[in-house]
Amino acid sequence: IPLFCKQLFRLVELQPARAAWIGDIRAGTTVSYGNQIKASCHLIAFNADSAGVLGIVSLDCQDGGKRAVSQLHCHSDTVTDFDFSPFDQLLLATGSADKTVKVWCLSENGQDLPASAGVILGPEGCQVDMLQFHSTADGVLASGAGRRVKIWDVAQQQSLTGSAPEMLAVHKPLVVSLFFPQDKKLRIFDPRAKPTASQSVQGHENNKDSRLIWMDASDYLLSVGFNQMREREVKLWDTRRFSHSLLSCALDSSSGAAIPLFDTDTGLLVVAGKVINQCVTEGKTQGAALVPKLALDVMACEVARVLQLTDSFIVPISYTVPRKSVQEFHEDLFPDSAGTLPSASSQEWWAGDNKQPSLTHHVVLFPQDGSGLSSPSSSLTSPSMAPSVSTTSGFASSSSQRSLQSILGPSSKFRHAQGTVLHRDTHITNLKGLNLTTPGECNGFCANQQRLAVPLLSAGGQIAILELSKPGRLPDTSIPTIQNGTPVADFCWDPFDLQRLAVAGEDAKIRIWRIPPGGLQKMLLEPEAVLRGHTEKIYSIQFHPQAADILASSSYDMTVRIWDLRTKQEVLCLKGHTDQIFSLAWSPDGRKLATVSKDGRVRLYKPRQSLEPEQDGPGPEGSRGARVVWACGGHYLLVSGFDSRSERQLYLYKADSLSAGPIAVGTVDVSPSTLIPFYDEDTSVVFLTGKGDTRVFVYEIVTEAPFFLECNSFSSSDPHKGFVFLPKTTCNVREVEFARALRLRQSSVEPVVFKVPRVKKEFFQDDIFPPTTVWWEPALTATAWLTGSNAQHQMLNLQPKDMTPVSEAPKDVPVRKYAPSSVYLEEKSDEQKKEELLSAMVAKLGNREDPLPQDSFEGVDEDEWVGRHG
Ligand SMILES: *[C@@H]1O[C@H](CO)[C@@H](O)[C@H](O)[C@H]1NC(C)=O
Repeated sequence: IPLFCKQLFRLVELQPARAAWIGDIRAGTTVSYGNQIKASCHLIAFNADSAGVLGIVSLDCQDGGKRAVSQLHCHSDTVTDFDFSPFDQLLLATGSADKTVKVWCLSENGQDLPASAGVILGPEGCQVDMLQFHSTADGVLASGAGRRVKIWDVAQQQSLTGSAPEMLAVHKPLVVSLFFPQDKKLRIFDPRAKPTASQSVQGHENNKDSRLIWMDASDYLLSVGFNQMREREVKLWDTRRFSHSLLSCALDSSSGAAIPLFDTDTGLLVVAGKVINQCVTEGKTQGAALVPKLALDVMACEVARVLQLTDSFIVPISYTVPRKSVQEFHEDLFPDSAGTLPSASSQEWWAGDNKQPSLTHHVVLFPQDGSGLSSPSSSLTSPSMAPSVSTTSGFASSSSQRSLQSILGPSSKFRHAQGTVLHRDTHITNLKGLNLTTPGECNGFCANQQRLAVPLLSAGGQIAILELSKPGRLPDTSIPTIQNGTPVADFCWDPFDLQRLAVAGEDAKIRIWRIPPGGLQKMLLEPEAVLRGHTEKIYSIQFHPQAADILASSSYDMTVRIWDLRTKQEVLCLKGHTDQIFSLAWSPDGRKLATVSKDGRVRLYKPRQSLEPEQDGPGPEGSRGARVVWACGGHYLLVSGFDSRSERQLYLYKADSLSAGPIAVGTVDVSPSTLIPFYDEDTSVVFLTGKGDTRVFVYEIVTEAPFFLECNSFSSSDPHKGFVFLPKTTCNVREVEFARALRLRQSSVEPVVFKVPRVKKEFFQDDIFPPTTVWWEPALTATAWLTGSNAQHQMLNLQPKDMTPVSEAPKDVPVRKYAPSSVYLEEKSDEQKKEELLSAMVAKLGNREDPLPQDSFEGVDEDEWVGRHG
């Protein structure tokens, strides 16, 4: 909840154009405890104006035309409440004054409605007042009738409970709100436990219509009712200290019942009633519903949509967060949402299973060649396509699964790694006119320990060169650039010569540019060398890791060529590819070259021995893009790509047996841009993120199961355009900083450091910092390599002279490797959580302006906001 406070303060309520209202509605004026309207991802159901009839209309307007409203004749008396199954968008349960509960299978278009119910439950002793499907267990339905609650197993058409008297709300694994007007008390109950297990407390003082909702899987409960003054009030309860409410807040003195609608992902509470009456003038509000999260327009930053039922219209009211860049998916606004797959069957649940809902990432489907920045007009995860987070290799991305894994499985010592953006003083800001639509094979920008290169939007492939030693605001005037003369396909710095930049052009040529020491002072027009030979434009280029002056390039002409920069000549031309070459990587020893390509193969060459692949094996099936890096001492290949369902996956191969296929496959998430890996040999940690992503995934790679050990990821509030790592020597080892990167944003570059939290920082953490490869000095000349020599890089000990290795720390000094868990934000104590929840609630309900401490470190930058809105 606190994460979202900042956003919530600035929500914009979109007044819908009248054309978006759904007309031809004749809503009933039923008096019941139901919301009168509910929505699934496909359909809207509402109380129609004749008893026993619900109106059914599709949620989306199919062809821009009018939506047809159908009538479901479902009961012989008033329909008092109804609910869609969270796992089946067409399954509707209805309860009625005729004492029965029925379950209906509707059609996707909301027409051709069934004449009879699929299941009939009851009759109960008196009218059914309330109905609610279980949020995580399949086919579990709670009904409230009179003073009784029943829990039904819908598939078995039978009641799981006998009937338990006087249950007002059921325990959180059930997540229902059921309120009984005859009693002012709130009671909590686990229907699977003995009825005596209940707790009770005085609820609202006035016994008029009250509502209860669980705040998701937390221990908090929220109630809306009336106080003695007959004012509407909201109360927040901690069920572990149920003797009194944590918070009570009077809203107004309207007499109509308030309907609380709560979105668990964002913590957004909408109290419908008077609030909505204020914003829509037409007609009296009969009811209100939240549209399911998966049906929202995430690309428009729509965080909630309320459907207001009036006498003659259904009015959709969107709540959006105003972001400048609306073409991108703002991951921070859309945490994993409860998915459409149940996490337990009714039987499992009844037997005591308390699984959390399976979470779904919001999926955005892009055109195949999408770089991740193109904009689909709408975006959603259609429920049938929404994959739940899968765990092919035992790892997944939801935090609950991750923490479960960290309890059960082997865990990484980098598990608590923390990525932090360094202070503003170190940023380069006021970058203008960047070309952020570089091809998928290009990282977007490139950097070495001294400077970075980034392409500009201007014609003729201009490249800006920025010195890392000169952070700060760039002048408004244009800065000196490299005039490449043709658009940039890919580019990289010579690892052994910090002044030398190789640029592959769309004109099939590679130009080698030399930056004067200290940086670019004037326009650079003449390259140092031009490499000619490819017959079509180039995908990517890569310098040799050991030998000076050796460069490899891949091209649309399906070849990989190896160049000697001294002679400017092509020296080798590798064959065997039959489609686009997504990525190439030299082995750390410089003997081999691996490629991954669109023809679904991973290939391995020994270029000096053969121009044909030495080995090949099955690669990722998805054709959106892929990357390859060497891992674990050069004995393994790590490929990131897409499977046939467009999920982003990691594949680990043994480099000496590619044909056997990957030894491990893991699903990361669903997102359109290729995950670009950076592998740190010293720690065996791989960092993965895509252009346009907000999250950097971190895994330690190990050579036995489970192969991928998930570590804390780094997330930012706005998407990065590129994320490039710097050499180990830039890391501050005293701060246990084991990786340092540069993050390119729309108009700035900022350093991000990754640290391992350690207590005894006065010791050199030699387990984190083994001697590192001096890969920035060549080990061979081009001639030596070309004539068959091999060599090894020097190694460098990173230990500062004045520090003692932690492995040699005196025995009497107790060395605790990890800081206590409370150090980590993700592991808050109950007290902390309660504090935050409370302050968030107080702030929201009291409508105060930005009162929260977390505002100072969460949310997005000030300049990302279009404006401030209540
Ligand atoms: C941006 O760069 C790509 C190649 O990297 C090029 O195709 C495109 O034309 C450039 N866009 C502009 C506006 O210069």
